[in-house]
Amino acid sequence: MENRATRAWLILSMMGMVACTNEPAVDSVTAYGGRLFDKWYQETGSDFVPDNPDTVEADGQGGPNGDGTLNDRDGNPVLNSGHNYRFKSLFGWDLLANSGIYGEAYQAKEYVLSTGPGNDAEPPEVWIDRIENGWNDLPAFGPVLTRSQISALVDFMLAMRDGIIPGPGDLWDLSADSPKGFVMKSGGDAERGHIYYEQNCAACHGTDAADILFDDGTQTLGQHARYYGYAVAIITMNGEPGSEMGPQLVPGRGKAQYVQNLLDLIAALCDRGRYGTGRATDPDVPDADIRCGEYLR
Ligand code: HEC
Repeated sequence: MENRATRAWLILSMMGMVACTNEPAVDSVTAYGGRLFDKWYQETGSDFVPDNPDTVEADGQGGPNGDGTLNDRDGNPVLNSGHNYRFKSLFGWDLLANSGIYGEAYQAKEYVLSTGPGNDAEPPEVWIDRIENGWNDLPAFGPVLTRSQISALVDFMLAMRDGIIPGPGDLWDLSADSPKGFVMKSGGDAERGHIYYEQNCAACHGTDAADILFDDGTQTLGQHARYYGYAVAIITMNGEPGSEMGPQLVPGRGKAQYVQNLLDLIAALCDRGRYGTGRATDPDVPDADIRCGEYLR
């Protein structure tokens, strides 16, 4: 899990050089909760394989029914309609479910739930109960996640909802005119982002962000940031579930600094020349694409 950023932070803190701030930090609990939010079965190493959404029968592995389904609050199996039982799919990355980025006005994912944590101000205990035992269309995760995992997940979601850690309101605006329903917020500095990238990402992803390909070889990290900047920003904050990539923000710096780091990074990765398509098979975004906002180069 260790990376250059945490190593540098350890060294600086041993030298007494990390300033104490009262600002809330992205701590290891919310980052862990964030990875569970993204893909809990990858993060926990569970044997759960979601039911295949393209077949009528329940044909996955694991879970309370042994077939890759979970049950609703009344104990009836909920088949996989394409959400793969991932919270990021059920609620959307912005927690706004059908009113947000995956909702009908934007990406129109048919499997997104009608409401999510971003649509109310309920306290942690309410969300813990809903996740554990099910609620409306939300399946019960109690049989596959421990109470402390559910708590970490809820801590992440409500910290993002309540603006304690970077979230949608800091990073992007919803836009029905954009191919994926979002436009990155302005205020990032690409030059600083290139340096941040070089120091924190290049060792694994390569100088041109093209060493690791995603989605079956279709996209480099640069392309991925131009297609799905919202997800890249949140994955950078939390780390990639079940992989060697941990959280990429230097602990203890406070929210404003984190938002700046993430916007700088996306601003940098929106440079199609510097972080090109490499061996990836998807085309790059065209000149007129508005997802990167003012950053597209
Ligand atoms: C220690 C190595 C390492 C470092 C450092 C690292 N990554 Fe990663 N990253 C990975 C690995 C491994 C994966 C998983 C690849 C896979 O799923 O096939 C990954 C996946 C990702 C993904 C997920 C893409 C997707 O949707 O599947 C994003 C986004 C990402 N990295 C961004 C970054 C950024 C930005 C930085 C720097 C701030 C960074 N990474 C630093 C190794 C690293």
